[in-house]
Amino acid sequence: MLTGNPVFDAFVRDMHGVMDVAGGDEALLLDRGRALVAALVADDGWLPEDYAQPHPEHFKQYVLHRDGERGFTVMSVVWNKGQSAMAHDHKTWGIIGQLRGAEREREYEDPVPGEPLKLRAETVMHPGDTCVVSPDTGDIHDVANAFDGVSVSIHVYGADLPSLADRRHRYEVATGEAIPVITTYY
Ligand code: FE2
Repeated sequence: MLTGNPVFDAFVRDMHGVMDVAGGDEALLLDRGRALVAALVADDGWLPEDYAQPHPEHFKQYVLHRDGERGFTVMSVVWNKGQSAMAHDHKTWGIIGQLRGAEREREYEDPVPGEPLKLRAETVMHPGDTCVVSPDTGDIHDVANAFDGVSVSIHVYGADLPSLADRRHRYEVATGEAIPVITTYY
């Protein structure tokens, strides 16, 4: 958890304000929330280095904020050169902002059992860029570090991901096979 950081504390406060205003209107929440995340990642001076250290074997998540009551989680996700995450769903809304480096994100259509995943869009995120995921508008993507060094992105989710573990999946793109996922915080 990251506390006592004026830039980040203001972001968390503003996100709560957006959730208050949006109520159950997810489109409004993602629109306003995305602007806040874009502003947060436009400035690369606030994230302490302790939360930006890569792991040699896999991408690493650091919890920056966790609000169990409201179901709202913010993480930094750190990718060493060459690391990636296979296709997965989230089962909650999410907003992702690129803080450092670059990440290739491929979005997929909702899965059809027994068929390969269908690519919907592919983008490379650079510092200041944002993207969203949502069960309503597109919840499956895979991510790979596209930078010749460490990449860092900030992830905001509408739920505590471990509480959703028994509903989430990873996917084999070539076959569409869904594999249950257990979310862990390192
Ligand atoms: Fe994801």
